Amino acid sequence: MVYSNILVETEVSTQIITINRPDKLNALNKETIEELGDAFSEAESNIGIRAIIITGSGEKAFVAGADISEFYQFSVDKGKELSAKGHKILFDLVENLTTPVIAAVNGFALGGGLELAMCSHIRIASDNAKLGLPEVTLGVIPGYGGTQRLAQLVGKGKANEMIMTAAMISSEEAEKWGLVNAVVSQSELLETAKMMAAKIARNSPVAIASAIRSINAGYKDGVNGYQTEIEEFGICFGTEDFNEGTSAFMEKRKAVFSGK
Ligand code: COA
Repeated sequence: MVYSNILVETEVSTQIITINRPDKLNALNKETIEELGDAFSEAESNIGIRAIIITGSGEKAFVAGADISEFYQFSVDKGKELSAKGHKILFDLVENLTTPVIAAVNGFALGGGLELAMCSHIRIASDNAKLGLPEVTLGVIPGYGGTQRLAQLVGKGKANEMIMTAAMISSEEAEKWGLVNAVVSQSELLETAKMMAAKIARNSPVAIASAIRSINAGYKDGVNGYQTEIEEFGICFGTEDFNEGTSAFMEKRKAVFSGK
């Protein structure tokens, strides 16, 4: 597919998606959100892709938020629709992908940028990154899952503080709070994300998909995460990957997973 706002490359079994609007600090306009949704869906449907890295182009920003120029005159209905559509076509979609997504946060991750990082399964940040949800400075609240996922990741108290003060925090602080998994220098960021993707790619894709569904189930209303785990655990026993993984262990060799 041809995209105007993102770059998509494949390295072995890792898909690298780069938001490419550096002049606008990679702000998420409508078209970029749609392109990202398409690119993530395409990666998910490709059996050869075992992990996805999402990053921003340039050295300054991962994503500086939703594109303010597009929504500043919206009505109540249009505002609601903007949020609902974003949830559906990108943010919820990413969280529920069964191909692991690593956000390589290479600079400002603000508003929708931090929300994109938070719906990803894993976050690695560069040491110059600044993270925040500044929406209340604009008279609005985070609308792409930020009020929910930030509280899940850092707890309600810290989420209240970050959202109400609109303050940006450093990547070191974000690591301390559990908002990012690791912090590395900007020059090492992509390589670190690729190494993690390669580590993931060695494991069973069907088991990883079951793990994602089970972990996510714990955060869904009306769903019992433990019950989902029991079901998913059972499902694994009927897969080729389970046969391969356990046979390889017994035969003292490395498993080669088909993802079936
Ligand atoms: N939406 C639309 N455009 C954005 C943007 C956003 N969220 N963030 C940055 N940009 C644009 C700027 O308008 C500017 O465009 P221009 O050169 O055509 O005027 C360009 O990106 C560079 O940004 P600039 O503000 O000049 O860079 P800076 O280094 O002085 O400041 C930030 C960087 C991140 C502090 C600042 O851009 C900012 O506060 N952005 C908005 C953050 C935000 O509120 N996000 C939540 C949105 S819901």
